[in-house]
Amino acid sequence: MSLKKIIPPEFLEPNWRLWSFVLLIALGILALFAFPMKGYDGYIDPFYSPTVVILPLIGLFRLTCYAFRKYYHRHLFGHPPGCSVSERLNEAKRAYSGETGFFRVENLHRYFMYFSAAILPFFFYDFYLSLFWQHSLALRFGSLFMLADTLAVTIWVFSCHSVRHIIGGRLDCFSCTFASRLGGSVFKFQSRLNARHEALAWASLALIIAADLYIRALAAGLPLDFTILVL
Ligand code: FES
Repeated sequence: MSLKKIIPPEFLEPNWRLWSFVLLIALGILALFAFPMKGYDGYIDPFYSPTVVILPLIGLFRLTCYAFRKYYHRHLFGHPPGCSVSERLNEAKRAYSGETGFFRVENLHRYFMYFSAAILPFFFYDFYLSLFWQHSLALRFGSLFMLADTLAVTIWVFSCHSVRHIIGGRLDCFSCTFASRLGGSVFKFQSRLNARHEALAWASLALIIAADLYIRALAAGLPLDFTILVL
């Protein structure tokens, strides 16, 4: 079988936007391994919770999320450039083939979701641990930062389309299954979050990066933390 049938032409053609994106991700991953930061002063870095080893699975969960798919399909691959446009705008005119061929990997999203959901309790546990500081129970700015990051990631995961599929009864009829047996309340709540899924995806990504940089800044000696309450 020809490689051209498996690998999208975008990977074979010169495309500075695609390759600068790939380079940015590669540099980010390299930096995480080259400059490990398990935590500082009671704060655990979110990228290392519970361990940096599972990062590839979490990364794949993000990469196959619809919010990010929309971005790279439109702006990096131009495939398709918009919802109602079925072909690429350039001369190649390759028809959009959906989640087939190489992009079949996007169908694994629901399995990556299980891994991501499984590590959510670790984020809450890290927040809980950060409250015990210098033999006291203390609320510090950094703990609130970690809580904001934890809640954003949790709400984003819960708003996922795969979660919606599970709550909806794994069927295409959302009004006639498990959802209606639950009174529809969980499904309706999840639907409200799902409608904002894209914003939640970007917000949670920004917050997790900010939390990592914040802990690194503290470790570097920047005076960015303060105590709000000590018991
Ligand atoms: Fe975005 Fe599942 S679709 S996390």
